[in-house]
Amino acid sequence: MPHQSKRQFITRLAVASAFVAMGGMSLPAWADAPAAPARLANVMILATGGTIAGSGATSTTTVGYTAATVGVQQLIDAVPELKKVAHVSGEQVVQIASENMNNETWLTLAKRVNVLLARSDVDGIVITHGTDTLEETAYFLDLVVKSHKPVVLVGAMRPSTAISADGPINLYNAVLLAASPEAVGKGVMVTLNDQIQAAREVTKTNTSTLDSFKTPELGMLGYIQGSRPFFYRQSTRKNTADTEFDISNLTSLPQVDIVYGYANMNPLALDAFVAAGAKGIVHAGVGDGSLATKVVPSLKAARAKGVVIVRASRVGQGILARNGEANDDALDFVAADTLNAQKARILLMLALTKTADTKEIQRMFYTY
Ligand code: SIN
Repeated sequence: MPHQSKRQFITRLAVASAFVAMGGMSLPAWADAPAAPARLANVMILATGGTIAGSGATSTTTVGYTAATVGVQQLIDAVPELKKVAHVSGEQVVQIASENMNNETWLTLAKRVNVLLARSDVDGIVITHGTDTLEETAYFLDLVVKSHKPVVLVGAMRPSTAISADGPINLYNAVLLAASPEAVGKGVMVTLNDQIQAAREVTKTNTSTLDSFKTPELGMLGYIQGSRPFFYRQSTRKNTADTEFDISNLTSLPQVDIVYGYANMNPLALDAFVAAGAKGIVHAGVGDGSLATKVVPSLKAARAKGVVIVRASRVGQGILARNGEANDDALDFVAADTLNAQKARILLMLALTKTADTKEIQRMFYTY
């Protein structure tokens, strides 16, 4: 990582603070392009695998390829244009398909991000990641990174060997975003397909198309166009340096599992998770998180044992109404607000590192 003088770093911080004070406002597209920065930012790329590092048998193989085969330096070397927007260097944290992401790797990754961002010669972080659980890693980091410097997660829908692979342009966009003063204070971001999304709200919506990552209804944060980010929105929920979560001394996270609602649902999976020691259950119910009559006794029994129950919805959009389809006050359950089940699981795990008080946990679900 090239070094920067203290004066250069202070200049970048001053520019960043001004953007934050302006509410992170971007110049409109028709305005003059901003002056070239006094120096290039230093951006670290932490690689974890995924399709962006995947390879297929032929250039037309866009399904049935192998994820996580290409190392971080090869990813960087494949995009020489990165040198124009930042000083980049890479680290291989893990090399996995993201269905194998787990709590322990999240803790390793988050600790490494926090160590790097505490350094004055690191301006931003890019994390390359498989798209399948990218939104989960992004939200976990959004809750535990202790810095306002930009952290950007990036993936690709096509392997690196495919015709029109999207990995190189996505990586270029991610690096320029992580290097951008306008990205300071925006929480952890996700970029694919020239779009900038907030970690809390983005989700993968399609198994294979390039425009898979979306923020339904609430909308993306902005675009990347002409090698510049344009921001139009900001998440209102607290994140990164403004959260109460501290993972610096944690080596594991409490067991929290998800049960999925469906017609003819039975309580078998729920009972098994509780018997296996779950400290929390996210119930991804039908509609507004409705509870099948057959499952309620198991949910009540789990709660009586101290297991925290969060009601979420499998629908994917909208607010889970507290005391709507179930009497959460009487049942002593927590409502997931707008979080999908996989993100509710992450917030519940972190909440349980602080408290088992359901009122406090409900407060956290309305805060983050
Ligand atoms: C993965 O999530 O690791 C595989 C799929 C992808 O990256 O698109």
